Amino acid sequence: MSNKPIIVFEGIEGSGKSHHISVVSKYLKKKRINHIKIREPGGNSNSEKIRKLILNNKSNFNKNTDLLLYMAARSENIDVIKKSFNKKIILIDRFTDSTIAYQYYGMGVDLNLIETLNKSLLKNIKVGFTFLNIVNQKNLQKRLKQRKALNRYDKFKMSFYNKVQNGFIKLSKKQKNKYQLINSNLEIDKNEKLILKKIDKLIK
Ligand code: TMP
Repeated sequence: MSNKPIIVFEGIEGSGKSHHISVVSKYLKKKRINHIKIREPGGNSNSEKIRKLILNNKSNFNKNTDLLLYMAARSENIDVIKKSFNKKIILIDRFTDSTIAYQYYGMGVDLNLIETLNKSLLKNIKVGFTFLNIVNQKNLQKRLKQRKALNRYDKFKMSFYNKVQNGFIKLSKKQKNKYQLINSNLEIDKNEKLILKKIDKLIK
């Protein structure tokens, strides 16, 4: 694996992935290690526009439209990723696993369609490592309640998030050496240390 890998932070709502990606980005900055940090859906200005459209509470697209919008946002983001691929460390808050977990495991969209679109968009781009953040139902509910504003994807039933999280775990089991599970029900600073230790190894 390149010492400038793509490192993805995955997990359902309230799992702490966005917190951990920020911690890693600050750590790299402090060490003056060149990297970029992006998110999906989002990333560049075009995909941020698509993000607003998908997650707007007034939107009510069907599940296939959602898939195509997430892919449209990814298509724009791929340009950003290509520019830095193998040149800089790329930290991404959600990527292709989110599409399989939410759209396939959560919503039942055709898996072949998702995989075909991902392959066509990514070509030679490969994820180096994924931190999968896991949260239990109690903490998920607590953390969602603490949010100032909820978007369209923050309002599903608990059973939906369960399906999605189990989907993420299934994906991680297919390539165990490329994933580290982070139990976000445990102390946050211990998890930060665990992640930074792994980051050091990944970029050595
Ligand atoms: P975020 O608020 O964690 O950035 O994520 C936005 C929502 O988008 C989150 O509920 C997960 C969802 N999502 C999908 O359903 N499919 C995808 O492919 C991606 C990238 C995100």
